[in-house]
Amino acid sequence: MTEPTPKMPFSGRLMELLMQPLEHLRARTIEQAHGKILEIGIGTGRNLAYYRGVETLYAIEPDAALHPIAQQRAAQAGITLELTEGGAESLPYPDESFDTVVITWVFCTIPLAEQAAQEIFRILRPDGAVHYIEHTASPHKGMRSLQNFFTPPWKMIAGGCRLNRDPHTILTQAGFHHERYRPINTAPWNPFPVYAGVAHKSPPPTEAA
Ligand SMILES: C[S@@+](CC[C@H](N)C(=O)[O-])C[C@H]1O[C@@H](n2cnc3c(N)ncnc32)[C@H](O)[C@@H]1O
Repeated sequence: MTEPTPKMPFSGRLMELLMQPLEHLRARTIEQAHGKILEIGIGTGRNLAYYRGVETLYAIEPDAALHPIAQQRAAQAGITLELTEGGAESLPYPDESFDTVVITWVFCTIPLAEQAAQEIFRILRPDGAVHYIEHTASPHKGMRSLQNFFTPPWKMIAGGCRLNRDPHTILTQAGFHHERYRPINTAPWNPFPVYAGVAHKSPPPTEAA
């Protein structure tokens, strides 16, 4: 007998609606994840279909209403999902215990983003990497002012999302070195410029020399 489909909560429906136009960006980032992997803020588990050769995935997500949806998608992808309820500001894992951290469109909603970046640094192995896709503060002054103005109301209707966060800088300040930082759509009129990147704990060889 097949398991009944869990009901999608309102928070999940809103998230899926807002994230739908960005679906095509996921595969390239998620396919690179390897070893022992932690996904932060897994939400409804939209990334699960894109992992390759992954048997067990660790994940943390504060919204427990989304867990059954993520678990169902994990089962469909043939992945055992070790899912914990909680926030990235206090990760319940030992130091240096993961090879890869995946984080997609989450930094904007984390209340204490700097603390979360420090926690990610702590739980990654020395040769570990963070693979991320995030929307950020605009590089264009005019749009950045608009983002600052609209962030308070937007935050109220979009699950705590801030338009003017800068995850690249937050990761750098936590001690990470960026290997690739790929702008995806940074037009001056775009309030959601997106960047994909890989951040390492150790500097790349040229930087270390
Ligand atoms: C825009 S959704 C993105 C979900 C998923 N990563 C994706 O790509 O579809 C943001 C997610 O971050 C989660 N989140 C909010 N605060 C968080 C925190 N402090 N730590 C970890 N995740 C958090 C939300 O519950 C939500 O699932």
